[in-house]
Amino acid sequence: MSLIQPVSFEAALDAANQHARNYLAQVEGMPVGPALTAAELRQRLNKPLAEQGIPPEEVVHQLGLDAAGGLMQSPGSRFFGWVIGGTLPAALAADWMTTAWDQNAASYSTSPASAMVEEIVGGWLKELLRLPSSASFALVTGCQLAHFTCLAAARHAVLHQRGWDVERRGLFGAPPIHIVTSDLLHGSAERAIRFAGIGTDQIIRLPSDTSGRLPAATLAQALQSIDGPVIVILQAGDVNVGAFDSFRDLIPIAKRHGAWVHVDGAFGLWAAASPRFRHLVADVATADSWATDGHKWLNVPFDCGYAFVADSGVHQAAMAYRAAYISYAKDARDPADWNPEWSRRARGFATYAAIRQLGRRGIAEMIERCCDMAELLTTGIGRLPGAELIQTSPINQGLVRFLDPRPGATAEDHDRRTAEVVAGICASGEAWFSDTVWKGRRAMRISVCNWRTDRDDVDRVIQAVATVVRQRSA
Ligand SMILES: Cc1ncc(COP(=O)(O)O)c(C=O)c1O
Repeated sequence: MSLIQPVSFEAALDAANQHARNYLAQVEGMPVGPALTAAELRQRLNKPLAEQGIPPEEVVHQLGLDAAGGLMQSPGSRFFGWVIGGTLPAALAADWMTTAWDQNAASYSTSPASAMVEEIVGGWLKELLRLPSSASFALVTGCQLAHFTCLAAARHAVLHQRGWDVERRGLFGAPPIHIVTSDLLHGSAERAIRFAGIGTDQIIRLPSDTSGRLPAATLAQALQSIDGPVIVILQAGDVNVGAFDSFRDLIPIAKRHGAWVHVDGAFGLWAAASPRFRHLVADVATADSWATDGHKWLNVPFDCGYAFVADSGVHQAAMAYRAAYISYAKDARDPADWNPEWSRRARGFATYAAIRQLGRRGIAEMIERCCDMAELLTTGIGRLPGAELIQTSPINQGLVRFLDPRPGATAEDHDRRTAEVVAGICASGEAWFSDTVWKGRRAMRISVCNWRTDRDDVDRVIQAVATVVRQRSA
């Protein structure tokens, strides 16, 4: 007798629907941080590996109950940790359908609708982000893989210029590639550099200025002393203060030296979608490649990043592959030609839904509102007794710190105090922030990336922070 019972999907989907809807209805009323310790969570979830299965609706129901205390309420409006976006209703629902459809979005032949939606979405994204309409693109798992995709194209191009075919010969014996960037390079780009086989010893990290920007003279001087293939990585919105390098000044310098210019715009590239903020990315379209995310500021569910490459030929040379058992489209786009993955999730549907839900105007409003809320939070918290504003951001980030009130307190005491207050705020359940080190000192990061965060949330959170600071001073 078969152990696989003939069951329908219905009961399991009903159970999932119920749990998901309850969660979303209650998320604003729940403590923002997880309720359970690691030991408690492990005990709940770590069932013995059973010989016999159980009905699917029972599996889903138990999972809904057991995971509950270990969830971070990051889809809610008072979550400001790291850089984590919320989810728009249309994007979330489209993501559910994506799972139900269970398409392999490798090629047009494996899923025509998935491939067509990606083709359309790529065009919309280029319009929204004001990138060249001729640029090629890939929908990948996140900005990390977008970096990798772009760097693979960059690696191909800078070595091809020197007569080296990296796809065929690899990097052994190739002219060494230099990566020139600022000291604010995000870890995901560093990892992509490792994955691309270039190696972290090849990174030249130039000092950024006090606002986090790479000075033009510093870049020019560094490039002068380098002979050989170069990739310059610039930043559209760094993770701490949302700093934007000046693309207008820096890209021509890099191009004069024959460098490939890649832009990390994980969230900051979205400034281009807002008439109020697009000056921050002036001339960014003159770069060679760009990496950004959907799961941060576009508020689609996780597993969604976008890579763009100005020279589609180079992009395809780095990624495409032909296999005899796959048929390739003549009149449509095959995602696998542009992606590092083979089998892959049809992640275009959620992006398609998000863009259709908001339209150009709605996306601009979401970007602008997040920036306004970040500014209010940063200045509001920075004005509290015992707090200090470190830096507001040109966009949706901000940094503050908390001062040890004891006479003679040292910088280390303020660092410790900052970490304690951040932990206290998170423990209060009223909001969630993460901390960082900025220019050598500990700071609390404020990151607003959720369409749901509004003025009431900001006022409530400033009050909550004031209470924690007061309690810790008593
Ligand atoms: C500036 C920057 N670049 C890249 C990334 C990595 O993005 P992902 O987590 O989507 O790979 C992040 C994530 O916070 C980021 O802030």
